[in-house]
Amino acid sequence: MKFLLGILFAVFVAIVGVFAVVTSGVINIGADQAHSPLVYKFLETARTRSIANASKGIIVPNLAKVDMISTGGADYKDMCAGCHLSPGVESTDFSESLYPKPPNFTNADVVKRYQTKAGAQQGFWAIKHGIMASGMPAWGASHDDDRMWAMMAFIRSLPELNEAQYTMLTTRIDTDIMDMSFDGDMDMSDDSFEMQH
Ligand code: HEC
Repeated sequence: MKFLLGILFAVFVAIVGVFAVVTSGVINIGADQAHSPLVYKFLETARTRSIANASKGIIVPNLAKVDMISTGGADYKDMCAGCHLSPGVESTDFSESLYPKPPNFTNADVVKRYQTKAGAQQGFWAIKHGIMASGMPAWGASHDDDRMWAMMAFIRSLPELNEAQYTMLTTRIDTDIMDMSFDGDMDMSDDSFEMQH
């Protein structure tokens, strides 16, 4: 009985201790200070295990299809390159100042894990849901799955691209404008067809 009370007391002291530390304000939450190796390992393990677990059932489309790679390029340049870099750009204000640092997707060693099924599932999950308190946004709030898979496909081939190829694959052709003028022409010919009768 005494032993049990001892354990209960120890648990109580531990909870009060944690509460006192958290509410006292001594924990530095600044992004310009690194975690201790133990805390870093703890958080990294939680993140890796969480993403691996949550992404298990995701069905991966055929990421080698060329149109997937080309449509993902423009989105990548607009929304991701500022943090995850691009050919010829080795650092940006974001890539330098965030903690943890965003992985550099022009580096083949970083990207090679997305060539496996599990890697692609995990990368897609991170794009869709983001990573809490890291600076990685949840893009699923504003983008459909197809667009996010296209970015995943583009990232997989990014390390092979030089600057000129990157520019070519990330330039947006404004198809909306082309569609509009095409529709306009069609309407006019329809009208003239009706007028003749
Ligand atoms: C504001 C900066 C920022 C932007 C913009 C950003 N990311 Fe991230 N991203 C991060 C950070 C920081 C991490 C690392 C988080 C961590 O390690 O806990 C990350 C992680 C990731 C990961 C997971 C890496 C892994 O562990 O395998 C993927 C995939 C990813 N980002 C893709 C994207 C894509 C695609 C876009 C654009 C649609 C994007 N990110 C935009 C900051 C950013």
